[in-house]
Amino acid sequence: MDGPSGTGKSTVSRRLAGACAAAYLDTGAMYRALTLAVLRAGLDGADPAAERIALGAVPNLQSVVDPDAPRILLSGEDVEAEIRGPAVTAAVSAVSAVPAVRAALVARQRTIVADAVVDGGIVVEGRDIGSVVVPDAPLKVYLTASEHVRAARRGAQDRKAGRTGDIAVVLADVRRRDRLDSTRRTSPLQVASDAVVLDTDELSVDDVLAELLRLVRERG
Ligand code: C5P
Repeated sequence: MDGPSGTGKSTVSRRLAGACAAAYLDTGAMYRALTLAVLRAGLDGADPAAERIALGAVPNLQSVVDPDAPRILLSGEDVEAEIRGPAVTAAVSAVSAVPAVRAALVARQRTIVADAVVDGGIVVEGRDIGSVVVPDAPLKVYLTASEHVRAARRGAQDRKAGRTGDIAVVLADVRRRDRLDSTRRTSPLQVASDAVVLDTDELSVDDVLAELLRLVRERG
């Protein structure tokens, strides 16, 4: 499952994994956790030393792939709440644009996928899953929606989690991250040539889930 932020990717991916008794991997959480390690080292995402800190933190990451309670641990600490905050959100696109960081995480993600496939399957969400991480995935979906709808969804999510969720600020962040994620040199956000594209502007979570389950059944 690929697509920009605010398309409902996480919600539908988790529900799809639950409905299929599959595992669920949020690759964005991995980039966010490495970004947290960089910030905790007192650096900003664009600092030349960020790469070394981020790469050093890769072995300390642990993704819990349970769709009912997905979370990420950094050196054993559950950092799920902290990685969703504004500081990490502002810095993550810079860290995720570093080619060596991407290479290290893609390797980790492929290992997790290979293990889960033996155990009954996995739903993986991110920006480069169909194009780079799992190019032979049996089903690739690219979720999209207009930027205003995405900003409204993201704002509602932020307010629910107790953050400000001001729409103008969220819209500016959505635009900034879209630009950075789509224009980076290494594996930019893009639609895999064989992906099914779903525009979710007019679709509820239940509508999207129904369509995904139909696609899963169709692919056997
Ligand atoms: O999905 P989420 O918004 O949590 O992702 C946070 C950031 O991580 C994205 O804006 C993007 O910069 C990066 N990311 C990525 N490749 C992925 C998943 C996320 O570059 N597969």
